[in-house]
Formats: sequence, structure tokens, C-alpha cells
Amino acid sequence: MSRQESVLITGTTSGVGRALLEHYVRSGARVISVNRRRVQELEAEYPTVRFECVDVRATEAVHELVSGLAAAEELPDVFILNAGINRVDNDEVFQLATYRSVVETNLYGVLNFVEPLTQLKRGKIPRHLVAVSSMAHYVGNPYALGYTTSKQALTECFDAWSKMYVGTDLVFQRVMLGPVRTAIYTMASDFPSWMVRLKDAFSGSPEATARAISRFARTQKPRLFHPGRAVALYLGMWLCRWLIPDFFRGRKTRTGNSR
Ligand SMILES: NC(=O)c1ccc[n+]([C@@H]2O[C@H](COP(=O)([O-])OP(=O)(O)OC[C@H]3O[C@@H](n4cnc5c(N)ncnc54)[C@H](OP(=O)(O)O)[C@@H]3O)[C@@H](O)[C@H]2O)c1
Repeated sequence: MSRQESVLITGTTSGVGRALLEHYVRSGARVISVNRRRVQELEAEYPTVRFECVDVRATEAVHELVSGLAAAEELPDVFILNAGINRVDNDEVFQLATYRSVVETNLYGVLNFVEPLTQLKRGKIPRHLVAVSSMAHYVGNPYALGYTTSKQALTECFDAWSKMYVGTDLVFQRVMLGPVRTAIYTMASDFPSWMVRLKDAFSGSPEATARAISRFARTQKPRLFHPGRAVALYLGMWLCRWLIPDFFRGRKTRTGNSR
């Protein structure tokens, strides 16, 4: 009899995480869902899922969760570290508190899981740690510095670990997402209309993204670019950024108070 697949997913109340939860439940996997708040309807809809109410920014709570699972020999084979936020933090003025909250979620919210997992005794089966990063890594967004820099740091860490841990039981993998039609994605309505139209044309659905991530997590590959067609969009933006000096110049001002 084949082993039942087991997965822990962070941030399953909406978007990609929710689609991942649905996908893994449908495929018969054992699922642990980690959310910062309880959602009664979600828990009622998926009675087989183990719901843990933990804010990924809370280092001690995450460590306790991981050590509890290890002690009960219930550590899943796959950790999909998906929870993330995006905020405008550098528009009229630079807002440190907003920047900090984004970095604490997107970067430390993942690293909090990595530390205890690297401290465990080597296991017999491979354990996959999948970070959900962003193609924004390559282009940046001057208005959302916390988002861009946290995803850049996350990508760099997972790149280093995917090489350092080769041949061990830990498989570090990163997903470089392009636009996916979720709550985070709709924030982009702040962008110029031509950019919104371009993003729409290159975007993917949360369901297709969940399928691609689950297939990827069964491999040993270090990185996945999804949706593939978005690579062309980001490559184009990357070129514009370097070739057009004014591409990212100037601030969006709403109150007219900026310098
Ligand atoms: N959508 C895109 O275009 C896109 C592109 C590139 C990368 N990504 C990445 O994909 C991942 C999923 O994003 P999404 O598009 O699915 O956005 P989403 O619909 O806004 O989902 C984000 C999820 O993260 C959870 N979360 C936020 N802060 C948390 C915390 N401190 N502790 C635990 N959970 C927390 C949210 O829970 P609440 O409901 O409690 O807020 C929600 O379940 C993110 O890492 C994002 O950066 C998305």
C-alpha cells in the first residue's frame, strides 16, 4: 500500500493557500492548515483537515507547533510556506511599521518554520520545504518595498539552502509566482491601466497554481516559475527598468503633500 501524502500549508483562508487546501484534500492527502484566525465555515467544510491557529510571525508558537508534530511523529512530508501580505509602504512617505509587518510575515513567517526543521534529527524520508516567493523579486516595486525586499531575501535564502542541503533529507524549493488572481493581486488596481491589462493577460488562476505547486513539490527541483507565460512579462519589465531611466521615477501622491 502506498504511503498517504501529508502536507502543511500556511495561509489557507483565501487565494493560493485555499486552492492548495482544496487540491490536497481532494487528492486524499493528510492536511494541516495553519492560519492566524479561525474560519468556522472553512473548518466545517473540511472536517478531515487539522486546523492550527498560529500567526506565522510568532516564532515561539511556530517552534511549538513543529516540535509538537515531531514529538507525535506527525511531521508532514511537505511544508508549503505560502502565507504572505502585500502593503503600500513607500508612497507619500516611507512607513516603517507597514514595512516591518510585511517583512515579518513574508520573510520571518517562513524562516520561523525553517529553523526548527533544520534542528531536527535527520529523517529517513525527504522533507520538502516549499517557499512561495514572487517574480517581483526581479523587477521590484518601489511603492511596496517591504514586499519586494522580503521576497528577494526569501528567494536568496532558499537558493542557498537548496544547494547546502543537497543529499540530506531536507529539500528546499521556491515557487516564483507571477500574477495569480487573488486578493493580493487585486491590490494592483493602483497601477496604471495598461499595466493592469498586461497583468491580466499573463495571470493564472489559484486552482491551476495549486496544481502546479503540488506537482512541483513531488520533485527535487529547486525552483518553479508559474505561470510560465508571466516570465515574458517580468523579463520585459526588467528590461524596461534598466533601459528606461525614468521607468520607476517619481512618487504617486494622493494628498499633494509630498516633497
Ligand atoms: N497573487 C499573486 O499575484 C501573487 C504573486 C506572487 C506571489 N504571491 C504570493 O503567494 C502567496 C499567497 O498569496 P495569495 O495571492 O493567495 O494572497 P491572499 O489571498 O491574500 O492570501 C494570503 C494568505 O496568507 C494569510 N496570512 C497573512 N498573514 C498571515 C500571518 N501572519 N499568519 C498566518 N497567515 C497569514 C492570509 O490570512 P488572512 O485571511 O488571515 O489575512 C491568507 O490566508 C503569498 O506569499 C504571496 O506573496 C502571490
